[in-house]
Amino acid sequence: MVTMQELTIRRPDDWHLHLRDGSVLAAVLPFTARRFARAIVMPNLAPPVTTTAAALAYRGRIVAALPAGAVFTPLMTLYLTDTTPPEEIDRAVDSGVVLGCKLYPAGATTHSAAGVTDVRRIDAVLARMSERGLALQVHGEVTDPAVDIFDREACFIEQVLGPLVARHPGLRVVFEHVTTRAAVEYVCAARPGIAATVTPQHLLLNRNALFQGGIRPHLYCLPVLKREADREALRAVVAAGNPRFFLGTDSAPHARTQKESACGCAGIFSAHAGIELYAEVFEQLGALARLEDFAAHFGADFYGLPRNSGTLTLERRAWSAPASYPLERAELVPLRAGAALAWAVRA
Ligand code: NCD
Ligand code: ZN
Repeated sequence: MVTMQELTIRRPDDWHLHLRDGSVLAAVLPFTARRFARAIVMPNLAPPVTTTAAALAYRGRIVAALPAGAVFTPLMTLYLTDTTPPEEIDRAVDSGVVLGCKLYPAGATTHSAAGVTDVRRIDAVLARMSERGLALQVHGEVTDPAVDIFDREACFIEQVLGPLVARHPGLRVVFEHVTTRAAVEYVCAARPGIAATVTPQHLLLNRNALFQGGIRPHLYCLPVLKREADREALRAVVAAGNPRFFLGTDSAPHARTQKESACGCAGIFSAHAGIELYAEVFEQLGALARLEDFAAHFGADFYGLPRNSGTLTLERRAWSAPASYPLERAELVPLRAGAALAWAVRA
């Protein structure tokens, strides 16, 4: 077989991204804007983006932080709380720039303290989202400390997501950053209108990587890396070209000192290689021909948005991710820091 040396695909989109704000936003946005035409921007700022007015203001700050000449559209989300009023859904839809609402179970992950304590409390909001066609993006983990952290996603499907999807038969739902075989099986068998995003780390690594030769805080994210059988299920479903599964990096920058700490933050920064890492996965799977669908077609189709018009060319060219990138008065350690990547974006 001839090895592919370059691959041109329709310009991709990142359907799950953390950009933060202020100087961190300015530092990380160029990586995404260089690769992706659009990204769904997560609303877990401090304080969270809970209103359409806040989402519009945040969108303005993102656009202002774009490098000159960048062609990039931020797609905004609202952060649901126990007290989000259904009228906020109308304002969100009418704004034309909010693409969905994010459900963070309270306490599930970084900046989720203001999230939803019991999804039954937001049933009226979910009903309005369903009526107005606004998608729900879900962080799918239960927060009960008695549930083993490796079982929290599977448990969430049974206790929360399954019943929620049944109560709201018209609601479009994206199960974000799926990590388990259970989640893959659930999404594959679910009714129409249910999809999932998949991160590079969950396709590339299993939980052994967290403890390889010592504890590896830069590989800690939520949902946490799972076992090899789970990774295999994720790889199989993306290699098969199932349109319910599409690209969402979950790139989540934290300063080095926040990660290398007695209580390190969850989140992996991958935007510096946000398409290159997936190319590596699809090549390992012998499925490079399916990368474009995963990265540039399935997500847009699910959200009912036009596919992008430009292209992006990837070439097989070894490069090394730096040990860190500068952040104002801090450092950002990327996925693969100091190590080799097989694919590069052509300048
Ligand atoms: C994300 C973050 O840092 O905002 N962290 C993570 O580990 N993925 C939040 C999230 O998506 O859970
Ligand atoms: Zn995330």
